[in-house]
Amino acid sequence: MKYNQLDNFNKDFLWGSASAAYQVEGASEVDGKGKSVWDVYTKIPGTTFKGTTGDIAVDHYNRYKEDVALMKEMGLKAYRFSISWPRIFPNGKGEINKRGLKFYSDLVDELLKNDIEPVVTLYHWDLPQALMDEYGGWESRNIIEDFNNYCVTLFKEFKGRVKYWVTLNEQNIFIKFGYEFAMHPPAVKDLKRMYEANHIASLANAKAIVSFRDIITDGLIGPSFAYSPAYYNTPNPEDVLAAENAEDLNSSWWLDIYCKGMYPRLAFKYLEKEGLAPTIKEGDMDLLKLGKPDFMGLNYYQTANYEENSLEDGVGSGTFNTSGKKGTTKDSGIPGVYKTVKNKYLETTDWDWTIDPEGLRVALRRITSRYNLPILITENGLGAFDTFENGEIHDEYRIEYLKAHIKACREAITDGVELLGYCTWSFTDLLSWLNGYQKRYGFVYVDRDETDSGSLNRYKKDSFYWYKEVIKNNGSNIK
Ligand code: BG6
Repeated sequence: MKYNQLDNFNKDFLWGSASAAYQVEGASEVDGKGKSVWDVYTKIPGTTFKGTTGDIAVDHYNRYKEDVALMKEMGLKAYRFSISWPRIFPNGKGEINKRGLKFYSDLVDELLKNDIEPVVTLYHWDLPQALMDEYGGWESRNIIEDFNNYCVTLFKEFKGRVKYWVTLNEQNIFIKFGYEFAMHPPAVKDLKRMYEANHIASLANAKAIVSFRDIITDGLIGPSFAYSPAYYNTPNPEDVLAAENAEDLNSSWWLDIYCKGMYPRLAFKYLEKEGLAPTIKEGDMDLLKLGKPDFMGLNYYQTANYEENSLEDGVGSGTFNTSGKKGTTKDSGIPGVYKTVKNKYLETTDWDWTIDPEGLRVALRRITSRYNLPILITENGLGAFDTFENGEIHDEYRIEYLKAHIKACREAITDGVELLGYCTWSFTDLLSWLNGYQKRYGFVYVDRDETDSGSLNRYKKDSFYWYKEVIKNNGSNIK
């Protein structure tokens, strides 16, 4: 729909920004923290861009007060951050590490003191290594109880202080990259193990939501999903079917489980035929139906374009661009199901991610139409090279990107989407898991690169001042 006049953002709209523990905190071995799988994985040669790790990251653990002061200066309404499970339980379970808990308690208090709503992510990929060693992490049903115990500890600790909770961040990404593309820990290529581990993660997600209901009555909880809506490349019905296959297997597989407590029927049948469908035990589907979220967390970066892929000699796995050299991504697919293809209407970033603000509107509308839930945008942003000159960073490309995406939000609200808030990725620059520190996302530049030299000083980019104005105007200046 096209409108002469767009609806306004709600007066309590959460203008936010986000981060994740491993990507910002550093302090990887202090105050009793246990090792996470990322602490171990990044030390294996060849796994990350130029061997970068989060050992120091952007030192948020030691500089959180300075970072919160910058948020306050900007007028930020919400800050989404994640809690590192091995800081709370160094071995994943057992005795609580009080010093780890204190860090997050202090951070929450600092945010509240500055009128910034904390949005807490319970799991942003830094699984305790001890649980990986003991039972293979997400591959064992033991994790359901251990994750629940960790979540319950945090619900009790932050009850009355934290209202917005995110369970799992991008289950589709950590599972696929962990077990299909072998680029995240445990870095294996085994689709059977992938679907089993994924089912267990879904059960853990549902159980945590069920526990939440018993403890917190004045809060909202939901998972964050990395949703790349599927487009079909041409109106050729073969391409339309390929895109529907992709939407089912790459998105509805998770979204339907979260929001309806059931797997999409056609995708399940296909995976059964392939011998890949997960083992469903008695009680599983009941738990999944009980553990429905209050909102869907949406991490939106790009759309994906699909076309038909032949069964006999179709395209298989491709490659990802982790260097920032444009054009180095190779298309991928599943023979007989779909394959990706460049969308000739869209520009891309230097990491080959399509830039598609309308796609955000498509994502918001599809989630609303299918699941009728409020949505919190938990991530959206542009990873780009920034140039630092005399203490200034002129990132007008980031401003253009965010402006267009916020406009898409406003249009989606006008369409009827219930949008709770918009968190950009990210507040400060941070570690981009596989892409080092050169792929920058923040409003605040951090002086560091792939080596551990650099002052770690913070500098406000042009986008910082721009977002400050957006917040001040409650988005009414975005038309
Ligand atoms: C999401 C993650 O996948 O996208 C973030 O939740 C991540 O942790 C962000 O940093 C951007 O991805 P990348 O690969 O550019 O860091």
